[in-house]
Amino acid sequence: MEHPIAVIDYGSQYTQLIVRRIRELGYFSRLYQPSELDQTGDPAAVILSGGPRSTLEDDAPDIDFDYLVKMGVPVLGVCYGMQLLNTKFGGTVAPGNTREYGPATLMPENGVDGIFSDLEGHSQIWMSHSDTVSELPDGCEVMGRNLDGVPVALRWNDKFFGIQFHPEVSHTDEGTQILQNFLNRATDLPTFAISSFKDKLVERVRAEVNGRKVVCGVSGGVDSSVLAALLHEAQIDTRNIFVDTGLSRKDEPAEVESLFREVGIEIETIDASKLFLDALAGVSDPEEKRRIIGRLFVQVFFDAVGDDVELLAQGTLYPDVIESATSGSIASTIKTHHNRVDKIMELKEAGRVIEPLDELFKDEVRELGRVLGLPERVVGRHPFPGPGLAVRCPGEVTEEKLKIIREADDIFIGLLRDRQFYDSVWQAYAALIPTKTVGVKGDERSYEYALSLRAVTSEDAMTAEWVHLPYELLGEISNRILNEVPGVNRVLYDISTKPPASIEWE
Ligand code: XMP
Repeated sequence: MEHPIAVIDYGSQYTQLIVRRIRELGYFSRLYQPSELDQTGDPAAVILSGGPRSTLEDDAPDIDFDYLVKMGVPVLGVCYGMQLLNTKFGGTVAPGNTREYGPATLMPENGVDGIFSDLEGHSQIWMSHSDTVSELPDGCEVMGRNLDGVPVALRWNDKFFGIQFHPEVSHTDEGTQILQNFLNRATDLPTFAISSFKDKLVERVRAEVNGRKVVCGVSGGVDSSVLAALLHEAQIDTRNIFVDTGLSRKDEPAEVESLFREVGIEIETIDASKLFLDALAGVSDPEEKRRIIGRLFVQVFFDAVGDDVELLAQGTLYPDVIESATSGSIASTIKTHHNRVDKIMELKEAGRVIEPLDELFKDEVRELGRVLGLPERVVGRHPFPGPGLAVRCPGEVTEEKLKIIREADDIFIGLLRDRQFYDSVWQAYAALIPTKTVGVKGDERSYEYALSLRAVTSEDAMTAEWVHLPYELLGEISNRILNEVPGVNRVLYDISTKPPASIEWE
């Protein structure tokens, strides 16, 4: 892709969102490390992100400023990026005593030719910083201030701009417009549309595969289904393997088979459910469960395909790539549990792994799936964790518990679909609480499990809000579960946000 909008990552938790917002505006954008400025491929514009560090530290993350100036393209510094640019232009930054975090008001300065030209009056912005710019260099103009009159937006010349707030977060009311105004200053903006990106991907895959045989693990989830469909579209000779771990939802293996049959893609199913359940017997530590599942998955998969794998295709997405690059991040440990297994590392090092979706965000993958003709029931699916129902079954995983989770989940998801809640929810599921409680069923005292229902909204799974489902619907779901699912006598609704809770139970 030519002339990307290069976002330089100084480590803010919001940096990925900048890339995403720009793509939502219809332009191609990518993330780069500060040291990769010369590898940004003739960008149309550069954005320096925010970050947790201080420019006053000795080893503060830097930028090759001479190179940046020579590029001759519009540059926007956000928070840390603005402070860094201010020092580069000869101004100063002062340490803040406290961190300013939360909403503030932007008052654009009339008459300054900047990036707020079409904002009407005051608007809400989102701040997260501690240092502030103190002295402005000669020629620097203030584009906007907060209600205390402190400069929160600067313009050093007709190419270099800085803002002390985050335009990428939804709490900045006109953030998207501000980004668009900035980008309007660039020439030759790289357009981004999934339909044309698909053609580029097909070309890329064909070139990478170069006549070799590919194996691909499918799960019925969005990412691996879209990957299989892309390989099919590119007419690559592919073996699609579906490992039935016995940890999937009700009827899932049969549905995965029928889905692929419907779209004309062949898959091979390996029923390894007994192996997985045996290996998990007596294990209740969540990380140990994950390790067992990850290891066994790889073993079963490679037993099936043999040792002569020429190429392995993986449905790694852009956020996974970025998170894995950030060493030690919890997210990367969670999501790449398959990647950590030696066999895949070995193939990776030998250049025998392809990851064609590694430039796309989840919603872009869904869109690509639609363009490739996958049915809505696949592309619109909620995310489902690799270790399956094991993470929704705290403590030891047993067939009895899995059956309860499956039946309850099926009723819950079925009603969410019926009542048109499924699509507006990021993820919903039933988890078993591994404690029995007393109840009454018929004339008898019962002593059975409690279940937790969870439904959340989220943009990227990093944070999540519980969904305010109507009481009537919750009542109906609870009644049906209590009447139809043996082994349960109590249903709870999980009203925890992430953070501090996570989306899954384990
Ligand atoms: P948490 O529970 O960390 O989940 O808030 C964030 C997102 O990641 C999914 N998830 C996993 N996915 N392997 C996966 O492939 C895992 O071990 C795993 N744990 C959580 C979760 O469903 C949610 O979408």
